[in-house]
Amino acid sequence: MAWTKERLEDVVRTRLAGARLVVVANREPFIHVYDGSEIRCMRPASGVTTALDPVMRATGGIWVGHGSGDADRAASDEQGRVAVPPEDPSYTLRRVWLSREEEEGYYYGFSNSALWPLCHAAYTRPRFEVEHWDAYRLVNRKFAQAVLEEVESEPAIVFVQDYHFALLPRLLRQARPDLIVVQFWHIPWPNPETFRVCPWKEEILSGLLGNDLLAFHTQYHCNNFLESVDRYLEARVCFERFAVTRRGHTTEIRPQPISVDPDEITALAPADWEYEERRMRNKLRVGNLPLLIGVDRIDYIKGIPERLRAVDRLLNKYPEWRRNFCFIQVGAPSRTHINEYQALSEEVRRLVEEINWRHGDDSWDPIIYLHEHHGPDKLAVLYRAAQACVITSLHDGMNLVAKEFVAARTDEQGVLVLSEFAGAACELSDALIVNPYALDQLAEAYQTALTMPLGEQQRRMRRMRRQVADNNIYRWAGMLLSAAGRLVEPKAPYSVRRGVRQVHDNGVPLLT
Ligand code: G6P
Repeated sequence: MAWTKERLEDVVRTRLAGARLVVVANREPFIHVYDGSEIRCMRPASGVTTALDPVMRATGGIWVGHGSGDADRAASDEQGRVAVPPEDPSYTLRRVWLSREEEEGYYYGFSNSALWPLCHAAYTRPRFEVEHWDAYRLVNRKFAQAVLEEVESEPAIVFVQDYHFALLPRLLRQARPDLIVVQFWHIPWPNPETFRVCPWKEEILSGLLGNDLLAFHTQYHCNNFLESVDRYLEARVCFERFAVTRRGHTTEIRPQPISVDPDEITALAPADWEYEERRMRNKLRVGNLPLLIGVDRIDYIKGIPERLRAVDRLLNKYPEWRRNFCFIQVGAPSRTHINEYQALSEEVRRLVEEINWRHGDDSWDPIIYLHEHHGPDKLAVLYRAAQACVITSLHDGMNLVAKEFVAARTDEQGVLVLSEFAGAACELSDALIVNPYALDQLAEAYQTALTMPLGEQQRRMRRMRRQVADNNIYRWAGMLLSAAGRLVEPKAPYSVRRGVRQVHDNGVPLLT
């Protein structure tokens, strides 16, 4: 039976035994910002929020996230709550406020200068600073407190997202042993040898083992995690059952690749394709040229310089493409306070300029660089107009752009060029799979994509579309929440359990 929004709603209604659903993710799904004196509501550039928003619309519940917009306070009530989506409220966003110092240490510091490079094999050195670690611990406690306030004394399933919250599951377990805590780690997990350099590896592993269920995109990342626990903690690791038992508590580890909502992406299709495509082509002055596109946050794991150098290589090898195609790179600025991101941004700008200078002329540039965030409507037009979408991650948990592109191609045409180092390559084997470190191979893949006969495009695209339709975001959430639901019943209500050390007068346990 196919996974749909309705089936997921059904799972939540029937299998969660009335437990509240609380999602915790650093990034909020809607950000309020001032535009002059007006308040505008925007959606951030984040695969995680794109994937989870449709789930929350289907299930209802509470999303606890960092209130990062300059108008977020003005748009929320005193508790930091606001009903979203603004056009059709179906769940609650609970914002957690962080000071500049907290954000600096927890988000820019430990999350994105230590854990991010540690988990991605992209040869950027992780930076471990005690102040960042302290802020990370403090913010994890702050989020734990907000979650405990939201669940009150009710049974609940807390669905934690990503590497920003490695310590949160243990904090929740200590305060409320009866909560079901499930976490999805959206990025790769490194092998034990790589993980070894982290000065706080035991605390991180121990924090994550506060979960009842911990999921990764691929089996390989699950194996790496189990091996890391086996190597660095006193725990019973069962490689047959994929479970870890420590101090009487068991955490199940499993792969569950994330996806998109293909129907939502299809629904973005403009009524008049030809008009929208013409408008976009006129604006970018690309006439009727075949387009290769790249869509990323500007991040060193995405292999953007490699991708651009391969354009240079293609033009050297196959000069007949001069004036005959165009590469459009959409690059959303990201984590711009971090040096490595600033340096990359500069490198990309310089490379575009160099390659355009070398091969372009007064009326044609091989690369058009759009250094700004593009909303889903604009992306829908680009995806649909492209001859090929190019993903060259040096390492990536999944890469949802790959699945968005496939979902957008209702015409069953277009080619996906996909790095073998992105999790998506495990599922989308009909893409042209490339090693982005091998520039000649990448340039050849561009050549193949630009010349692929329509019949072959269709054969490949149909199979990929079936894959994305079957393994959609509702399946991802449904599988994880059903597994969580199976754990609800056996747990006694927390009031009869020991382990709640201090309780507020409103019944909310305090973290001690
Ligand atoms: C990755 C992470 C997400 C994150 C997203 C955007 O997909 O797994 O947790 O939200 O990048 O990054 P940002 O730092 O802007 O939230």
